[in-house]
Amino acid sequence: MNDLWRTTIGRCLLVDRYVGNDLFEKEEVMMTTAEIASKEPAVLTLEPDTYYWCSCGKSKNQPFCDGSHEGTSFVPMAFEITETKQVALCQCKRSANPPYCDGSHKDL
Ligand code: FES
Repeated sequence: MNDLWRTTIGRCLLVDRYVGNDLFEKEEVMMTTAEIASKEPAVLTLEPDTYYWCSCGKSKNQPFCDGSHEGTSFVPMAFEITETKQVALCQCKRSANPPYCDGSHKDL
């Protein structure tokens, strides 16, 4: 059986599966790549508290969660700030060290 990635519709892919030359089935598959909210980090001074970083990229309150991930496979990442400090929070959603920027946005 061969998969032919055919069409992107919003955050879904339509996949045609063939057996030989015959179409076997069509399947809609959710994409698992987060949206790029911005190609630069949000540099903020945060007070001690628990924060929820947006991992899906859909929040309108970047870099924090606003619940827009509902219905996706993404969940927000909770993180603690124990003393007032400046942080650079990832908004491209490609950092290998979330919620913090690691410079990955420079490759986009
Ligand atoms: S903003 Fe995502 S790695 Fe810098």
